[in-house]
Parts: sequence; C-alpha cells; structure tokens
Amino acid sequence: MSKQQEIVLSGIRPTGDLHLGNYFGALRNFVQLQDAHTCYFFIADYHSLTTHPTPEDLYKNVRRIMALYLAAGIDPEKSTLYIQSDVPEVCELYLLLGMIAYIGELERTATFKDKIRLQPGNVNAGLLTYPVLMASDILIHRSHKVPVGKDQEQHLELARVYARRFNSVYRCEVFPEPEAFAFGDHLVKVPGLNGTGGKMGKSEGNGIYLTDTAEDIRKKVMKAVTDAGPVEPGQTPSEPIQNLFTIMELVSPPDTLSFFRKQYAECTIRYGDLKKQLAEDINLYIAPIRERFGEIIRDSALLSKVAATGREKARASASATLKEVRKVIGFEN
Ligand code: TYM
Repeated sequence: MSKQQEIVLSGIRPTGDLHLGNYFGALRNFVQLQDAHTCYFFIADYHSLTTHPTPEDLYKNVRRIMALYLAAGIDPEKSTLYIQSDVPEVCELYLLLGMIAYIGELERTATFKDKIRLQPGNVNAGLLTYPVLMASDILIHRSHKVPVGKDQEQHLELARVYARRFNSVYRCEVFPEPEAFAFGDHLVKVPGLNGTGGKMGKSEGNGIYLTDTAEDIRKKVMKAVTDAGPVEPGQTPSEPIQNLFTIMELVSPPDTLSFFRKQYAECTIRYGDLKKQLAEDINLYIAPIRERFGEIIRDSALLSKVAATGREKARASASATLKEVRKVIGFEN
C-alpha cells in the first residue's frame, strides 16, 4: 500500500489549551504525516463531555483547539480537520461496536481505573465506554495509523481488538487493524515538571502550554522540582533531573543537551543555568505557534470555514464505511 493510500487519524480533547506533551506526543507528528498520507484530524468534543464542561467553555475550547491545530501547521488543504460532533456517523458505529465490546475488558482499562480513583463522584457510563467511542473514531475512516502519545497505547490495543472481532463476527474484512504510531521506535511520554514519574497533563496542573508567554514559561521552569545535585561523577540522574533532560532533548539543540549532561556527570552543574537555558529553548520552540495562534483565534470566519469543509469531507468517508458496516450486519441487502 502506498503512503497516500494509508489512512492516518488522530484526535485531541478540547479540555484546555495544548501543552508540550500534546505537541510532542501527537501534534508534531500530525504535521509531519500530512504531506504523504491521507489524514483525518479532529477535535474530540464528545469525549470531553465525561467531565461535564459548561456550554461556554466547550464552545470556546473547541475553537481554541481548532486554532492551535492550524497554528501548529495542520493544513486544511492537505488534511481533513473536523469536529467529532459534526460527524454523527461516529455515534452509530459506537452503538454497533458496543455490542461486541465486553464490560470486563473495559473495566480493566488503566485510564478507567484512574478515573474511578480521581473522580469517584462521577463514574459515568461514558467513561467506561470511552475506548469504544475512540475505536469508532478510528474505524469510521478505516484508519491504519494513529499517531498518539504513550498514554493512549492501551486504547489503541482495544481498537485493534474491536476491528478484529468485528471482522470475525461478521466474516468480513471491513476494518484494517489500526496501529499506534510515532516517528522513531517508541511512543512518546513527555514528563511533567513536578519531579514525579507522571506525564505532563492538562489535569495534572504541571503543563507548559503552547499559548504560554515567555514569562509564564520561565516561571514554570524555574519552579521545576530538582534535587540536591550530583555527588558522584557519572551517577545516573534522579527522576526530576532526568525529566528536565528529557524535555531538553525535545526542544534544545543536541550540543546544549550534551553540554549540561557532561556538567552533570562531572558534578559541576548548576540547575539554575540548566533551567534558564531550558526555558529559553522552550520559548523559542513555542513562540511561532503562540504568535500564529494569536492571529488565527481572532479569525472567526476562517475557523468556521475550516470546520465546515472538514465536516463535509469527514462525513463522506464516514458514511461510506457505515454503508458497508450496515450491509455486513444485515440491515441492508
Ligand atoms: P488527549 O486529548 O488527552 O491528548 C491528545 C494527544 O496528546 C497526547 N499526550 C501526550 N503525549 C506525550 N506526553 C504527554 N505528556 C502527553 N499528554 C497527552 C495523547 O497521547 C494524545 O495523542 N482519547 C484521546 C483523544 C481521542 C483520540 C481518538 C486519539 C479520542 N478519539 C481517536 C486518537 C484516536 C485523548 O484523550 O487525548
């Protein structure tokens, strides 16, 4: 299969502005993939309803994510860029896949277990079937590659299970098995700045956002957790320091990283210098996106036009898939 025939799809929830984790785990790869593949990128607004946003917040956040997609370099001429709730075909497939998804496998999903712990007062059915809706997003365009960060790996595994199971129950080949994708040999996990093994996340309160000013970035990085400093030459960095190096590896030139790594190994490093450099390099990376975002978010006509075009293209592909699905199930002859 040529790359142009390969279908790429991914989505982002509109639960707040995007951070470095979203960028390096997902968005940057979307931009690189769009030249050579058939790409669908969307805003997962149905998925964001599990936490009951207000209508005002939902509307505002959807537009901001749309603007961030464009600011980061998604070209609506090359990629189909749409809003999930504009494509109701996804809901029909969600219902149909729900019939072959087992409660046990959904209850065992790590993200579901986390949500039970984090929001015990709101363990809704949408949280349990979240991976089924996500599989519908992916399978509705019969996607092959799904660029995501490490935290989505298990959801992707379920999407593969549902594709296989559907094909086997209905003795058909309607769905390819989608694969989680990243350039390089592993899915990315960008750490937070709070010194733990956790990821940078919107709800973790540890994010550096693509809309942060240079000053915001400097303040956040200078506050990042460190340790008392290396005591033995060549020692392995502790987790908080390794996290800073991991982010530096993404945003800084290689010689900057090796300069600080060498200083660490020789026990001469000053964390203040490391952080100052890191904040500058993050800002250099983010500044062009932030500036383009500032212009695009004011252009309501552009945002509406992109959404309308995306919706047409996405619905055409989605309804073609549903037609086949309905046929193999036996709704149509
Ligand atoms: P969401 O909105 O939480 O995150 C969007 C993308 O950003 C990645 N990401 C990270 N990558 C590396 N390091 C991090 N710290 C980090 N934080 C977030 C996520 O892996 C994701 O790729 N369920 C999805 C949205 C979705 C979807 C889909 C994705 C709905 N349907 C179909 C792909 C295909 C989510 O909540 O992503």
